[in-house]
Amino acid sequence: MSPEELAGLLDMARTCSNGGDYLEVGTAAGGTLREMMKCFDDASRPRFVVVDPMNYFADQLEIVRKNLRSHDLDPAQVDFRVATSVSAFTPAEDAREAYDFMLIDGAHKIRYVTQDLRWLRLLKPGGVACIHDYNDRHEGVKLSVDRFLRKHPNYRREQLVGSLMILRKSGSSPSKEITFADRLWASALTPFLQLKINLRKRLARRA
Ligand SMILES: C[S@@+](CC[C@H](N)C(=O)[O-])C[C@H]1O[C@@H](n2cnc3c(N)ncnc32)[C@H](O)[C@@H]1O
Repeated sequence: MSPEELAGLLDMARTCSNGGDYLEVGTAAGGTLREMMKCFDDASRPRFVVVDPMNYFADQLEIVRKNLRSHDLDPAQVDFRVATSVSAFTPAEDAREAYDFMLIDGAHKIRYVTQDLRWLRLLKPGGVACIHDYNDRHEGVKLSVDRFLRKHPNYRREQLVGSLMILRKSGSSPSKEITFADRLWASALTPFLQLKINLRKRLARRA
């Protein structure tokens, strides 16, 4: 995340806490997680939930924990869910979890982003969701978010900082955020987007 995007993210993270949890989908080494946690002192820090299969690199979970410890943050304060966002969602929904703030920054292929957006169902009205890599280089993110915004007028685009799309939920959704049809749409587009990526890479190699 660029310094500008991180500053925009932290400005939002600081002001959203209202009794709910904070979520990060996709944490890598926990660098942004650490900065979000540092927005609060120990007494006022909301519960952080991290969803990540933790196979991005070797010992990922231990590296994230070490990163937090080296900044005087207690990893035990984070609820790590070692899972993909799709498999972690239903248990969270069944437990009626409620979030004030979300950072969605997992896999960027369209079908994964579409699955990640299901989590916005658990965002409280007034809450904020930040989606990273909303740009032309990541068509999966852009197409998925654009479709979501067209279908859900109760989410408004608050700001775009670099490639960080910041959305605010103004009220609860009358129906599920992501439907079977949305997932089908994403699956149908996957091979075309992949073909475009492959062609772009091939052309870049020739240039
Ligand atoms: C771009 S990195 C995240 C960067 C991090 N948010 C930061 O700002 O430092 C992508 C992360 O998404 C995770 N990831 C990949 N597929 C995922 C999935 N299906 N569900 C949740 N996380 C996923 C990877 O393991 C990796 O840690």
